[in-house]
Amino acid sequence: MAISSFDRSDYLLDVRGLQTYFFTEQGVVKAVDGVDLNVRSGEIFGLVGESGCGKTVTALSILRLIEEPGKIVAGEVYFEGIALHELTEEKMNNLRGKRISMIFQQPLSRLNPVFTGGAQVAEVLMIHWKMEKEEAWQRTIELYKTVGISDAEEKINAYPHELSVGQAQRVMIALALATVPELLIADEPTTALDVTIQAQILDLLRELRTSRNTSVILITHDLGVIAEMADRVAVMYAGAIVEQTNVVSLFDKPMHPYTTGLMASMPIPGRSAERLNAIPGNVPNLINLPAGCRFAPRCRSRVEYELQICTEYEPDLIQIKPDHYVRCWLYQDKDDHRAPIDV
Ligand SMILES: Nc1ncnc2c1ncn2[C@@H]1O[C@H](COP(=O)(O)OP(=O)(O)OP(=O)(O)O)[C@@H](O)[C@H]1O
Ligand code: SF4
Ligand SMILES: [Mg+2]
Repeated sequence: MAISSFDRSDYLLDVRGLQTYFFTEQGVVKAVDGVDLNVRSGEIFGLVGESGCGKTVTALSILRLIEEPGKIVAGEVYFEGIALHELTEEKMNNLRGKRISMIFQQPLSRLNPVFTGGAQVAEVLMIHWKMEKEEAWQRTIELYKTVGISDAEEKINAYPHELSVGQAQRVMIALALATVPELLIADEPTTALDVTIQAQILDLLRELRTSRNTSVILITHDLGVIAEMADRVAVMYAGAIVEQTNVVSLFDKPMHPYTTGLMASMPIPGRSAERLNAIPGNVPNLINLPAGCRFAPRCRSRVEYELQICTEYEPDLIQIKPDHYVRCWLYQDKDDHRAPIDV
């Protein structure tokens, strides 16, 4: 069964066949080139993959925040059944930051340096909830407390450059919460934070899900964070989703050779360092992707099973088991090519 047979109504967010390209002087960068994913209400959905595989561009495309020379060239994005790809810019603007919020990868670069963090949160409250100034400031202090900023009454007056990265990340979360979004996209929210602060931010996201039933797309390259946080996961490689399933299946029985390689390269205490970097070769150039499966040049299974088809045709993301989707010729037939692995 192809992924297109999902029942759209089951999902808070349903992304199909998304393609976002950057038209540069060097050529067309196919940053996102086949993203299908779907997020259920109230779940933490992990999006994992190596640096440069297209995680941030996927998030920005969902929110229609792609700028020149980038362009969304294909795909459909449904949020609560609303076709976001068909909305007017005005309607999209109303939805963005209100029903869907994003915590950006570099919080300091996304906060306005000219205004205090508190002023930025208060402004959202005044515009979105039509609050009076005094009420908005009181609510800002409460939000600062919610996200765990100590001395909230004083810290609301701090400018972004006076905040640590961890505090700036919390202000971003407070901004995102000012509108009670149904979906929060958190792009590497804990990168560059020390382990203690990282744990606190992750706790905060979990708490949000529990107390407000906010769905979270958690973007990370860290499988440890995925294991700890996510309900379901999509694994991305060179612009495409190669596997999507629940977190238990992913760690119990990863099916795509890339996912298997990622797992093997995960540092585990007590395991020898030789197993690290278990995937040979480099990620492909997104301007000049290999023919067929984009993972083919690095794939040991292709060699082991002598699969000719891998370098000829690109596999689709198809359902292999309940709640388990894989993009790999090991598990599917094409014409007379028998799938070598029975599931
Ligand atoms: N403005 C741009 N012009 C050209 N290429 C771009 C542009 N923005 C992103 N890209 C390319 O798109 C690809 C995907 O980038 P993206 O930022 O989504 O990766 P990522 O998975 O978020 O990586 P990271 O884990 O490092 O944040 C990269 O190869 C990047 O070079
Ligand atoms: S389709 Fe072929 S090359 Fe691609 S991951 Fe599967 S076995 Fe490897
Ligand atoms: Mg990124």
